Amino acid sequence: MLRRVAKKVWPAASAFAHPGGVARYHAARSGSRILSNDAPSGTTLGEAGGPASYPIVDHTYDAIVVGAGGAGLRAAIGLSEHGFNTACITKLFPTRSHTVAAQGGINAALGNMSEDDWRWHMYDTVKGSDWLGDQDAIQYMCREAPKAVYELENYGLPFSRTKEGKIYQRAFGGQSLNFGKGKQAHRCACAADRTGHALLHTLYGQAMKHNTQFFVEYLALDLIMDTDGSCRGVIALNMEDGTLHRFKGHSTILATGGYGRAYFSATSAHTCTGDGNAMAARAGIPLEDLEFVQFHPTGIYGAGCLITEGSRGEGGILRNSEGERFMERYAPTAKDLASRDVVSRSMTMEIREGRGVGPMKDHIYLHLNHLPPEVLKERLPGISETAAIFAGVDVTKEPIPVLPTVHYNMGGIPTNYHGEVVTIQDGNPDHVVPGLMAAGEAACASVHGANRLGANSLLDIVVFGRACANRVADIYKPGQPHRPLPKNAGEATIAWLDKLRYAKGDLSCAHIRDKMQRVMQNNAAVFRTQETLEEGKTLIDDVWKSFERVKISDRSLIWNTDLTETIELENLLINAVITMHSAEARKESRGAHAREDFKTRDDANWMKHTCGYWEDGKVRLEYRPVHMNTLDDEVESFPPKARVY
Ligand code: FUM
Repeated sequence: MLRRVAKKVWPAASAFAHPGGVARYHAARSGSRILSNDAPSGTTLGEAGGPASYPIVDHTYDAIVVGAGGAGLRAAIGLSEHGFNTACITKLFPTRSHTVAAQGGINAALGNMSEDDWRWHMYDTVKGSDWLGDQDAIQYMCREAPKAVYELENYGLPFSRTKEGKIYQRAFGGQSLNFGKGKQAHRCACAADRTGHALLHTLYGQAMKHNTQFFVEYLALDLIMDTDGSCRGVIALNMEDGTLHRFKGHSTILATGGYGRAYFSATSAHTCTGDGNAMAARAGIPLEDLEFVQFHPTGIYGAGCLITEGSRGEGGILRNSEGERFMERYAPTAKDLASRDVVSRSMTMEIREGRGVGPMKDHIYLHLNHLPPEVLKERLPGISETAAIFAGVDVTKEPIPVLPTVHYNMGGIPTNYHGEVVTIQDGNPDHVVPGLMAAGEAACASVHGANRLGANSLLDIVVFGRACANRVADIYKPGQPHRPLPKNAGEATIAWLDKLRYAKGDLSCAHIRDKMQRVMQNNAAVFRTQETLEEGKTLIDDVWKSFERVKISDRSLIWNTDLTETIELENLLINAVITMHSAEARKESRGAHAREDFKTRDDANWMKHTCGYWEDGKVRLEYRPVHMNTLDDEVESFPPKARVY
């Protein structure tokens, strides 16, 4: 049921614009002109040939959440608990969100398997980030982690247990005891190897207890920005009936996930198209650190499906064609449980040097067949099944063929540790964009810096989803009155949608998407050089230009996947182009950004966050400093040092 709804019919295909960046962006894209806020011109995008009108439905809420994965749901739960009238807009049914695919677990220094301390977790995370992570945000996340896990337990998440009935915690990559001086830490709480599934369903159940209003299968199109630079809400398309909806709220929280599908082979769902990132970029907000793309060491060869790092946490071993446990050479202490970027690079080196397995010698074997069958059954049932279905392998007997596969975007919409979106303004690198927040993979808090540690992602989504809700409660009261929206809010978006809907080019969405994915896979890969990145810039810019030639065959508005996939493709392209340009500019190796021509980390010149602005189809780069400070004296900042495992 929709609340506080005012229906009206919007004149279609008009190019009169609201004054925010979104309008400027679409006007530039459509060739229409920007007109003043009070002067709707009725200019028609005649070429687009749209029909006379689009029905518009207006909604007013205290707060709006875009996305219903773990971050969106946790934010929505918190907002509702604080008494805010909350809308959650999601293009998928909540339990289909990509959080469902998370396997290994969630890190927290619970100390269930040995003594542990959140400061040790913080140290590992700073080191994992290769000193690009903001230490205030990392402190916040690691300190909150035990509370977050117990909260999930209280919500009913069915964690795996130790014999004593405590939450079981497995070993995961890059986790140590005693600031790296002790042994491997067992810090990753899990529900077998289906932790994301359990977490998402648990949070959805909790959300149902509260008064969150879900708008399911609504594709958010754009932010509604005001003249003062604040965010006032979003405009979204109801994919079922083609109606357009303007949502007004004091706070809008983007929790739209990553953009893994900019690549050809990714563990991400096909729905991971960076929609929130692109919405922010179109509104003139920079995207931070997009060059840092995580390759998970163990995607199934040929299929890309995830085989959890938990499999190595339970004792799995990577071997080359000579049967050698090669990680002993690259990371003598952590071995197969070194940080993901390190393992992915080592596997790539083995393949390059001719020690890959299979007829083409182009992948690596993950052995679990030495593990007791009971362990596989109890702790790793999901990947045992996935390996059987997608690789035809019985994990009790044979190794799984694996290859590093795109898995996670460390970069995203820049935020502070409250979840507020920040930008660079008047020399202030931490300027808060009023009314706009982000959490989860869409955001860059930046707790992962240049490389995320496994099982810090489920943690990030619940900690920062909750932080967003708490911050809204610091600033607003439930039921606070709203200013009217900017006149003509959303019109430029409607003109853009209309133009896309009637696009009569000669290239299909699938064709352009395939080109984009191949360029990203080849030119922004595990190892990068000036040559591959410069070529990548030219190629991806060309793919972007070719988007002008996109053709849409279905003109309807009822479940028009041709149209919605094309919108998603534009979103992916914005992310892809900024990624390539940011990567070419960064002349060092740090975390997941490994340059063969600049092999070492260069703290003097590059310990800074990239901010990629999207301006008229071109990228402009600026930089903001890394937060080396901590929140308080409970822990001291960790100064940069060599990162060895
Ligand atoms: O390997 C995994 O289970 C993935 C976990 C993560 O990305 O956090």
